[in-house]
Amino acid sequence: MSFAHFLYRNLKGYHLLVVVAILLTFAQVGADILSAYPLKFIIDNTAPKTPDPAFLGAQELINFFKHFIPLNGTKGGVIGLAVTLFLALSLLKALLTFVLLYIAAFVGKQLTSRLSKNLFDHLQRLSISWHGQREHGDLVQRVTGNMADLEKFVADGLVDTLSGVLTIVGVIGIMACNNISLTLVSTVIIPLLGIIVYTYTRGIRAATKREKKAEGQVASIATEAMGKIMEIKAFNLEHFMFQLFTKASEKRLEEGRKAGSQQAQFTPLVDTILAIGTAVIIAIGAYSATSGQPLGPLKGEPITLGMLAIFLSFLTKLYQPMRNLAKLTTLSTSAAAAATRIEEVMEEQTEVLEVPPSYKGPTRLRGDIAYEDIYFCYGQSGPLVLKGVNLHIPTGKKVALVGLSGSGKTTLTNMLPRFYDTLPGWGSVKIDGVDINQYPLSILRQNISIVLQDSILFDGTIRDNIKIGRPTATDKEMIQAAEQACIHETIMKKPGGYDAKIINQGKNLSGGQRQRIAIARAILRGAPIIILDEPTAALDVEAEAEVLRALDGLVEDRTVLMITHRLSTVGKVDEVIVLKDGRIAEQGSYKKLKSENGIFANLLKVQNIFDEEEEEETTWSFMRSAAERPDTSHAEAEIQLEVDGKVVSQRRLNKVVLTIGRVEQNDIRVPRDNPATHQVSRLHAKILWKDQQWVIEDADSKFGLYYNGQKIEERVLQNGDRISIAPTIILIYVQQKSALPVPPPIAPPARIMLPQKAQVLIEVDGKLVGKRELDKTVLTIARQQQNANFDILIPSRFIGRTTHAQIVWENGVWLVKGRNGVRYNGDVVPQHIFNNGDCVYLAPSVALKYQVLQ
Ligand SMILES: Nc1ncnc2c1ncn2[C@@H]1O[C@H](COP(=O)(O)OP(=O)(O)OP(=O)(O)O)[C@@H](O)[C@H]1O
Ligand SMILES: [Mg+2]
Repeated sequence: MSFAHFLYRNLKGYHLLVVVAILLTFAQVGADILSAYPLKFIIDNTAPKTPDPAFLGAQELINFFKHFIPLNGTKGGVIGLAVTLFLALSLLKALLTFVLLYIAAFVGKQLTSRLSKNLFDHLQRLSISWHGQREHGDLVQRVTGNMADLEKFVADGLVDTLSGVLTIVGVIGIMACNNISLTLVSTVIIPLLGIIVYTYTRGIRAATKREKKAEGQVASIATEAMGKIMEIKAFNLEHFMFQLFTKASEKRLEEGRKAGSQQAQFTPLVDTILAIGTAVIIAIGAYSATSGQPLGPLKGEPITLGMLAIFLSFLTKLYQPMRNLAKLTTLSTSAAAAATRIEEVMEEQTEVLEVPPSYKGPTRLRGDIAYEDIYFCYGQSGPLVLKGVNLHIPTGKKVALVGLSGSGKTTLTNMLPRFYDTLPGWGSVKIDGVDINQYPLSILRQNISIVLQDSILFDGTIRDNIKIGRPTATDKEMIQAAEQACIHETIMKKPGGYDAKIINQGKNLSGGQRQRIAIARAILRGAPIIILDEPTAALDVEAEAEVLRALDGLVEDRTVLMITHRLSTVGKVDEVIVLKDGRIAEQGSYKKLKSENGIFANLLKVQNIFDEEEEEETTWSFMRSAAERPDTSHAEAEIQLEVDGKVVSQRRLNKVVLTIGRVEQNDIRVPRDNPATHQVSRLHAKILWKDQQWVIEDADSKFGLYYNGQKIEERVLQNGDRISIAPTIILIYVQQKSALPVPPPIAPPARIMLPQKAQVLIEVDGKLVGKRELDKTVLTIARQQQNANFDILIPSRFIGRTTHAQIVWENGVWLVKGRNGVRYNGDVVPQHIFNNGDCVYLAPSVALKYQVLQ
C-alpha cells in the first residue's frame, strides 16, 4: 500500500479539512506573492507617466486615498493605497498561516493519536508467540518514535511542501507575466541554488544523524550505568564505564562539530549566491530602467524600477521554499518508512478476545486438564520442544513439573492459556473434555491464574494491584485474600496500608512481598486452574517459606500445575511429572519416584541431601541408591584428600557421581576439625564419570575450585592433578593404572600458621636480584626508584612506578594480584594463589618465586 493511500485511509473523517487546508494554502501563497506589489506601485509612481496601479477600480481607490495624503497629482493616493494594500495582504497572510498551521497540527495530532491508540490496542492483542519473535524496544519505537515522524510530516512537511511548490510556480509565473527576459535571467540561479541546498542539507542531515546516534549511545551508556550502579561498584567498573562514556561523548562532539561546521557554511553560501544573482539583476534591470531600453530580444517593454524591486523581492522568496523542499525529502522518507513499519504490525492477525454472542458454553470451568499427544516447536521450523506429551490432571489435583532446564516445562504450561497454540494435527489440549480452542480466549484465560518467578506489579496502589485479580471484589474480600496470602500484616505496616504506592514495577517491595501480592491477586481471581512457574525460585529460604505458606491458601481445591526446581517443595503434590527433552520421562507420586532410582531420585540426590534439616530421613537412602557403577576398568582411580600437606583419606572412584563437601553424606567428606573447613561448602564439588573420563565440577561452592592457581568450573582429571577446594585442602587425583608418579604432598607445617611463613625470590632477566619474606599481610610491589615507599622494589622498566602488584594474605592463602594481571604457566590471570615453588611473572622477564619457609 502506498504512503499516499495510507495517509488517505488514516485521515478518514478529516478529508474536508485537508481540502480546506489546500485551498487556504493557495490563498496564503497568493497573498504572500502579491504583497510585493505595493512597493512597485510606489516606486513606479514616482516616475512620471507610469500607468500603475492599473487594476480594476484602482483609479477610484487612488482618488479616495488622495484625500489623506496631500501630494502632487495622484501620488498621495498611490502611496495610501499601496501601504493599505501591503498591510491588508500581510494581515491576510498571517491569518491564513495561523489557520493553516492550526489545521495541519490538528490533523497531524488527530492522525497520530488515533493511529497510536489503534496500534497499541493491536499490539496487546497480538499473540505471545508473535511478541516472542520481536524486540520490545523496536515495538515501542513504532508506537512512539514512528508516530512522531508521521506527525511531523503531516503538521510541518505537507503544508511546507504545498506552499513551497505553489510559491515557486507562482513566483516564476508572475515574473514571466511581467517580464520574460528578466525572468530568464533570474531563474538562472535557481538550479545553482537548488544544487547547493540539496548537497548541504544532505550533508547536514547525515552528520546530524550520526550525531544523534552518538547521542543515543551516550544516553544508553548513562542509563545502563545508572541502572547497574551496584554491579559497576561490585566489579570496580567505574573507570571502564567512564572510558566508555568518554569515548561516546567524544564521538558525539566530533559529529556535532561536523554538522555545525556545515550548517555554518550553508547560510552564508546561499546568501552569497543570492547576492550575486541580485547584483546581476540589479545591473541589468537598472540599466534597462534608466536607459529606457527594453531588455533582450524577447520583450519590447523596458523595465521599470518598480518591476526591478519586485523581481528582487521575488528572488529571495524562491529560496525558502527550496530549503523546505529539501527538508521535506527527509521528512517524507522517514514518514513513509514509519507508515510501513506501523502498517506491518497492523496487518498481523490478532487474538480474538471478545466472547462471540453465539457462545453457549460454560464461563466457569471445572479444571480437568488433558494434554493429548502434544507435539510443539517454536516458530516455523524450530526443533521439537514437546514430543508427544500425554497428561491428564483431574479436577483439583496438584502436579509438580520437574526436569532439567530446557526440558519443556514452561512450554507445556504456556499451552494452557493458549500463549502458544498447537498446530492442527499436532495434538490437543482439553479442559473439562473440550478442546481449549473451542473456548473464547477471555473465558479460557479468566479461568487460569498464573504466578511467575518474579511477579511484576503495576504502578498504582497495593489495593489496585490486588484488585486486578477481580476488579469487582469488595475491600473485605481483598483483605481476606491478602490474609490468605500472608501479606496482610506486611501491608498494614506500610505507611498508607493498602493505599501505599507501588512504584517502578514493585521494586520498592521485596521479592517475597511481590510474590505474595501476586498470590493474593490470584486468590482473589479465584480461577479453578493455577499455574505456578517456579514462584519461589528468585527468593531466599525465609521468603520462600512465607511464599510457600501463601501458596497453601491459593492452591486449595484447585487444579494446580507447579513447575519447580526446588524439589523440597514437591512433597505436597499428588503427582510428580518429570520432563526430559520434551517427553514425560517419569510420572508418579513423590514417594514412588524417589524410590525408583530414576531421574527424579538422582535430581533429589544432588539437591535435597544438602538441606541439613531434612537430610536424615529423606535423603540418605537416595545417596545409597545412586549406585550405578562406572566402567572404569581402564581408568581405576582414587581421590586423595590432602589437608595441610598431609593425605588424610582416600576414596576409590567407584560410582558415576561422587560428591565432595563438608557434610557427612558426601562420598568424600572434609574433616571438620580443620579451621579451613568452613571454606568448604556443604556440597562443594562433584566428580562425574563422563565420556569415559573423570571430571570434577564445582557445585556452586563458596570458595570454588582452583587448579594451578586458577579458578575452574570443571576439569577433566589427569593423573596427579591437585585441585584446591579451600586454602590448604587439596584433592589429588591418582590414576592407579597410570605410569605417572603422583607428586609427593608438600611437606606440611606441624600446625597451620596464619599467615603462612613464606618468602618470594625476585628474578629479573633470569638473575636473582633480591628476596623478601612475606612478613606483612599486604606487600606492595613497584619499580625501584628513589624515596619509594613500597615493600618490594624491582629494578626493571617493565614494572610500574606505582603499585604494580601486591602480595596479600587472604582467606588463608598467599595471593599475588597484578594491576594488569600476572602470568602463570603461560596464562595471564588477574591473581594467583601461591603454592610452594610457584614461579609467577609480573612482567616480561620479571619473575617472583614463592617458597614456603619452615
Ligand atoms: N520463545 C521461544 N522461542 C524459541 N524457543 C524457545 C522459546 N521458549 C523456549 N524455547 C526453547 O524451548 C525449549 C524448552 O523451553 P522451556 O522454557 O519450556 O523449558 P523449561 O523446562 O521451562 O526450562 P527452565 O527450567 O529453564 O525454565 C528450550 O530449548 C528453549 O530454548
Ligand atoms: Mg521454564
